[in-house]
Amino acid sequence: MQLKNDESRYGVVAQLFHWTIVVLIIVQFVLASRADELPRGIAKIQVLAQHKSFGITILGLTLLRLIWRWLNPVPAEPADIPRWQRIAARISHIGLYALLLITPVVGWLMSSARNFPVSWFGLVTLPDFIAPSKAAYELLHETHQALALTLFSLALLHVAAALKHHFIDKDNVLRRMLPVKLQQNTDRPR
Ligand code: HEM
Ligand code: HEM
Repeated sequence: MQLKNDESRYGVVAQLFHWTIVVLIIVQFVLASRADELPRGIAKIQVLAQHKSFGITILGLTLLRLIWRWLNPVPAEPADIPRWQRIAARISHIGLYALLLITPVVGWLMSSARNFPVSWFGLVTLPDFIAPSKAAYELLHETHQALALTLFSLALLHVAAALKHHFIDKDNVLRRMLPVKLQQNTDRPR
C-alpha cells in the first residue's frame, strides 16, 4: 500500500488520519459522559483535562490532515455516482472537517471563559484568547454541546452512506478507506 492517495484509493497517511480521528472522537464522547456523571471534584477535573487534551489533539491532527489533503488530492469519486450524491458527499465532508475544527476551538474558548486554562497533557499550556466570564462560558458551553451533537449526527449519516456504498451499491467507496485490496470489477470502473 502506498503512503499517498492515488486516483482510486486513499493512501496510508490519509487513512491513518481518518481512523485515528474516528477513535479520538469516540474517546471524546466517552470522556465527556464520564465527566458528566462525576460530582464536582478532582476526579472530574482529571477526566475533563483528558477530554481537553484529546480534543486539542483532534484539532492539531485535523489541521495536519487538511494540509496533507491540500498537498495530496483525494481520489476521484466513482464515475457512476449520481450528481446529488456527489454534492451530498462534498457538503457532508466539508461539514465534518468544519466541525472537527470548530468544536475543539469552542471547547478551548469555553475553558478560558471558565478560567480553566487548557493544558495539552500537562506539557504545554495554551493561551487564553478570551477573559473569564460566566455569560460567555454559558453560551460557549451550549454551543460546544450543540456542535458535538451535530458532529455525532453527521457522522452517523456519513457511516450510513459508507455502509450503503459497501452493502447495497457494492462499490469500492468503503474499501478505498480501508487497508484491504480493492475489488476487481472491470464492468464498473471503481
Ligand atoms: C472534537 C472534539 C470534541 C468533542 C466531540 C467534544 C464533545 C463534548 C461533549 C459531547 C461534551 C458534553 C457536553 C455537555 O456538557 O453536556 C463536552 C463537554 C466539555 N468539553 Fe468537549 N469536545 C471536544 C473538544 C473539546 C476541547 C478541545 C475542549 C477544551 C480544550 C473541550 C472542553 C470541554 C469541557 C470543559 C466540557 C465540560 C463542560 C462543562 O460541563 O462545564 N472539549 N465535550
Ligand atoms: C467520527 C466519525 C467520522 C468522521 C469525523 C469522519 C470524517 C470523514 C471525512 C472528513 C472524510 C472526507 C475525507 C476526504 O476526502 O478528505 C471521510 C471519508 C470517508 N469516511 Fe469517514 N468519518 C468518520 C467515521 C467513519 C466511519 C465509521 C466509516 C466507515 C463505516 C467512514 C468511512 C469513510 C469513507 C469510506 C470515506 C471515503 C469517502 C470517499 O471516498 O468519498 N467514516 N470521513
